[in-house]
Amino acid sequence: MAMNMTLKERLLTQVTPLAYDILLMPNLETFTFSGEETLIFTNKKPTKKIVLHASHLVIEKAVLVENGVEQEAKITYNKKEMSVSFEFAKTITAEKKQLKIAFTGIIGNKLRGWYKSTYIKSGETKYLATTQFEEIGAREVFPCIDDPMAKAVFTISVRIPENLTAISNTIDVATNKSNGLKTVQFAPTPKMATYALAFIVGEFEYIEKKTPSGVLVRVFVTPGKKSQAGFALDAAIKLLPFYEKYFGIAYPLPVLDLIAIPDFDAGAMENWGAITAREMALLVDAEQTSAANKQYVAIVVAHELTHMWFGNLVTMKWWEDLWLNEGFASYMEYVGVNFLHPEWNMWEQFAVLDHNKAMRLDSLENTHPIQAKIKNIEQITEIFDEVSYSKGASIIQMVVDFLGEESFQKGLQYYLKKYAYSNAETNDLWQALGKVSGKKVEDLMQTYTQKPGHPLVNARVSNDTMHLSQARFFSSIESREKSKDATAWQIPLHIASENKTTEFLLDKKEDSFPIDFSWIKLNKGETTFARVIYDAELIKRLEVPIKNKAISSIDRMGVVRDSFDAAEGGYAPVERALALVLHYTDESSYIVWASLAGKLNKIDNLLSETKLRIAYQAFVRKIFAKIGESVGWEKQASDSHEDILLRSVVLSSLGQYKDNSTIQKAKELFAKIEVDKSSVDTDIRGIVYAITAENGGREEFEKLKNMYIKETLSAEKNRIGNALCLFEDPSLVQRALDFSLSTHVRSQDIGRFIMSSFDNPKGREIAWKFVTKHWDILLEKMEGMGMDWMIQGAASIVSEELSDDIKEFFAKHPNPKLEKAMKQVVEQIESNLAWLKRDQDAIAAFLLDSK
Ligand code: BES
Ligand code: ZN
Repeated sequence: MAMNMTLKERLLTQVTPLAYDILLMPNLETFTFSGEETLIFTNKKPTKKIVLHASHLVIEKAVLVENGVEQEAKITYNKKEMSVSFEFAKTITAEKKQLKIAFTGIIGNKLRGWYKSTYIKSGETKYLATTQFEEIGAREVFPCIDDPMAKAVFTISVRIPENLTAISNTIDVATNKSNGLKTVQFAPTPKMATYALAFIVGEFEYIEKKTPSGVLVRVFVTPGKKSQAGFALDAAIKLLPFYEKYFGIAYPLPVLDLIAIPDFDAGAMENWGAITAREMALLVDAEQTSAANKQYVAIVVAHELTHMWFGNLVTMKWWEDLWLNEGFASYMEYVGVNFLHPEWNMWEQFAVLDHNKAMRLDSLENTHPIQAKIKNIEQITEIFDEVSYSKGASIIQMVVDFLGEESFQKGLQYYLKKYAYSNAETNDLWQALGKVSGKKVEDLMQTYTQKPGHPLVNARVSNDTMHLSQARFFSSIESREKSKDATAWQIPLHIASENKTTEFLLDKKEDSFPIDFSWIKLNKGETTFARVIYDAELIKRLEVPIKNKAISSIDRMGVVRDSFDAAEGGYAPVERALALVLHYTDESSYIVWASLAGKLNKIDNLLSETKLRIAYQAFVRKIFAKIGESVGWEKQASDSHEDILLRSVVLSSLGQYKDNSTIQKAKELFAKIEVDKSSVDTDIRGIVYAITAENGGREEFEKLKNMYIKETLSAEKNRIGNALCLFEDPSLVQRALDFSLSTHVRSQDIGRFIMSSFDNPKGREIAWKFVTKHWDILLEKMEGMGMDWMIQGAASIVSEELSDDIKEFFAKHPNPKLEKAMKQVVEQIESNLAWLKRDQDAIAAFLLDSK
């Protein structure tokens, strides 16, 4: 077994930083910076050598100050450890010390450390400089102990030309001008971790408002975009007091800034008091932003604001507990947005957007426990995945269901107070929730956080007895057969039946109970992170309650999800899942259709190279026919938020399955858009582009490409870029991908082009060849999350030949950052191939029957 990173490797045993005083002098012409830093620290034991993290920095000089006596250090770089050693002639004693360091560094092109971002102003390309420190970018900007445990107080000053704005975590308290430059000084930060610091410099416009308790909230944008900032400001202004009350702790800073950055790796980043985000994650254009995108912006604001408490105030001890940040924020997103927009029904969407997404990844052999293991520093990035985010959020939902919201909230308040300005680990949270509620939280949750995967409950009825058994769920037979996992989870189940809801705790491998009702839906509300597979009899009994909606939309959705996943994993026959769908044609719920569309698409994808595809498409068209009629193309005054989302899902499915009238209508609307974009509703523009591309050629490609180049709104650009990769003509997909490497596409968006091409059955092979051909460039341009997500796109591949290519390529290009992603992709491709082989005949027979 490999060792996890020790405190010594993390540089936590010698130097304990207390405070940093830092002056930064960025130059936006040479894209370099210089800095002067005073680090005040406790030296834990006498030594002649101290080590700080530093990477890509040049240290000009370092001087230790001890009782007014200065000692200059001999400087050695340790490139591999990303650190620098300072050696002194005389031993320094174990006490409070000061180290003064002068250094220089680079404002780079990669979207981490301190980097430049571009925008156009009056036809001219302009630059701004911004930082991204999570996880280990701070060491590229100043020497420090770059570790979540090494919290300190930071006092930052930035010297810049007078016409620029400087933003950092706190409020600016003084500005001194000299020689055309100004030095902006910021108030000291609270005690905090390095990864949540931020320094942003450029030309900005902003709008502002104060919360009732006097916190100044501002949204910054590059020049000309001020009119798109209002939605995010409004959300933040309402959410900040809401969270203060929910968490029982006032927001500790006088200011909260949200800054839209044109070039950004992730979606958004929770720097304390200075949240940075992609434009499409923060900006809303009254005319052009879709309902789905608006929802995303609300989610982003709610997520990052949660981090002001979960992450910034209380921080995980080490990245292995990353889920404490991200799982929590992913849960609280829904609490927050539900407060802003109760009419959006966010908890229904939770079941699709988080619960289901988490289950997909967590069904692989190559998943990981929520409490992850990190063998080396490069692997941190890998755990920013659906397990930390969505499974984390799902098991929080499970705890809330177990404790009740009020008790949960009290427990959280206790936890946050206890660990404020400090660090915690998973067990500390369970202890806190347990102490306040008096319930055995830890016993329930242990297996869900410490073990990989999640349970499947097998339900079988004989006579009047219900037999339940549990085992770990796998989405492929091959992975299941390899596994020796014998975990027994504690599985609390709400059980819905004809006229009552009951509770049952399955905590053994097998159990049974008597039944006296006609139908039964286990895991009512899908609050427990487990799946259920029913036997043929029980599934049959569910047909009526599905059709007459006697079970809730979340439950109807859960039955679909588990039935299809059971087919994929070889637990139940595929025709059972397909036949079940016939009982959903009267369905009207957005989340149910979204799941159905996803699951049906998976099989469409499987069949994409087979002769069965035509018959399958005809089958799915029939499923979507009735709902297609009912949603129509026109927005109705009576439409709810979910109706609008539903329309997109249904029409894009009908287009995908080649419904003629849908294709015709999309083409008409595309012609209208060419004349006047605003004549077509923004919520369906994306599908109009996609269907036009799926059924178009060279001419449409040129038109879309020109639209992409001219467009300034990031979200609209993405809709068009996505469509560019959906042409059936492989040479056009190739052109789209080549275009993605041109100056017209920001490196943050390249991954979207590749993923979209992987989604296109006719583009898959081209996408893979493109990835291999440009591997090094892509690694360079997409350092960070991008590459990891992008290769996941290849999981849709169903070709023996490509599968061999991919395995060979991965073997030849090992990369610690992508190790897990590569294994996950290979596992999924192998599973696709095995599933197709296994079920092709059964699907053919089913399609023949259902004609
Ligand atoms: N802390 C993350 C940003 C991040 C991600 C930093 C990966 C470093 C590596 C941030 O809080 C986050 O989770 N952002 C999400 C948006 C959110 C709405 C799910 C993102 O970027 O997708
Ligand atoms: Zn987050």
